[in-house]
Amino acid sequence: MSVEFATVLAPMAGYTDFAFRAICRDYGASLTVTEMVSSKALVMGNGLSRLMLYRDSVDKPCFCQIFGHEPDVMAASVRLDEVASYEGVDINMGCPVRKIVNSGDGSALLEDPRLAARCISAVKRAIGDKPLSVKFRLGVSDSGGAVDFAKMCADSGADFVTVHFRTRKQMYSGVADYSLLPQIAATGIPVIANGDITTREQALELINMGAKGVAVGRGALGKPYVFAELRGEHYRFDVMAAIERHAELLLKVFSERVVANEMKKHVAAYLKGRRNGKLVATEAMSAHSLEQILTPCRNFFALYPDFRSVQG
Ligand SMILES: Cc1cc2nc3c(=O)[nH]c(=O)nc-3n(C[C@H](O)[C@H](O)[C@H](O)COP(=O)(O)O)c2cc1C
Repeated sequence: MSVEFATVLAPMAGYTDFAFRAICRDYGASLTVTEMVSSKALVMGNGLSRLMLYRDSVDKPCFCQIFGHEPDVMAASVRLDEVASYEGVDINMGCPVRKIVNSGDGSALLEDPRLAARCISAVKRAIGDKPLSVKFRLGVSDSGGAVDFAKMCADSGADFVTVHFRTRKQMYSGVADYSLLPQIAATGIPVIANGDITTREQALELINMGAKGVAVGRGALGKPYVFAELRGEHYRFDVMAAIERHAELLLKVFSERVVANEMKKHVAAYLKGRRNGKLVATEAMSAHSLEQILTPCRNFFALYPDFRSVQG
């Protein structure tokens, strides 16, 4: 039986730029989200934040994720052309990183649902008919307020929510606890479930519990074909071709030096779990040019051609 559900690439700072999003799209990500960008930095014209919003035309629909805590600033940021070019907006209310929380952003808003509501409604007013989602965690140290938070998102104008089923205190430890999913779904707002999802079985179980889709973060790193697996579709993934394509895409926007640096973490992810792959990744880590990264990868796959292709 085929079950239709959204397969979302979860936003990951430092990873889900236009290039990685395009590759995940190839393998069936039905929605992608940018890395989080500061609404304040955007409004102040910060060049780096704007560069982070470069997008590839194949990557659609994609939501722009913003963070902030000042309703007016957040509304102004989504009116900017760079953000308005995206198909929707996602507000980050889950980031647990101390610097972000101390500035009142990300998961700090879990502690101030009234301010969170004002941020959501201001952004919704600014984007009009475009869809708006809110991504949040279950709570700060327990999940007691999660259902009410989801209701507040709906009442304030969010079209759906993506819930990372961990608390802020948990950071990334332990396992995601989905026991509140049915209650959150029962509020009526569509829920995208997130946390530790890597298989179709897990996804179908969460859909049965009321989710409208699943968002995958870490499970997509080095394995963009996870989306095809979630959808139950056949795929063939050529690891070396993906590494080359990834670098080529990045070269459209960044200098070779920047691309080499960016590719180090991706190469480590693409080679993870392959025998002797770690040696190549370690070599890549100390590279000073893109060629010094690509050559050991090519040599590796020439030596172990069986590792080059993954299919399902
Ligand atoms: C390196 C990294 C960067 C992340 N950056 C963001 C971000 O910019 N915005 C956000 O909402 N969540 C961010 N997250 C959280 C993920 O979107 C996701 O909620 C979390 O990793 C749990 O899902 P997973 O188990 O599928 O990875 C990040 C996670 C990681 C590992």
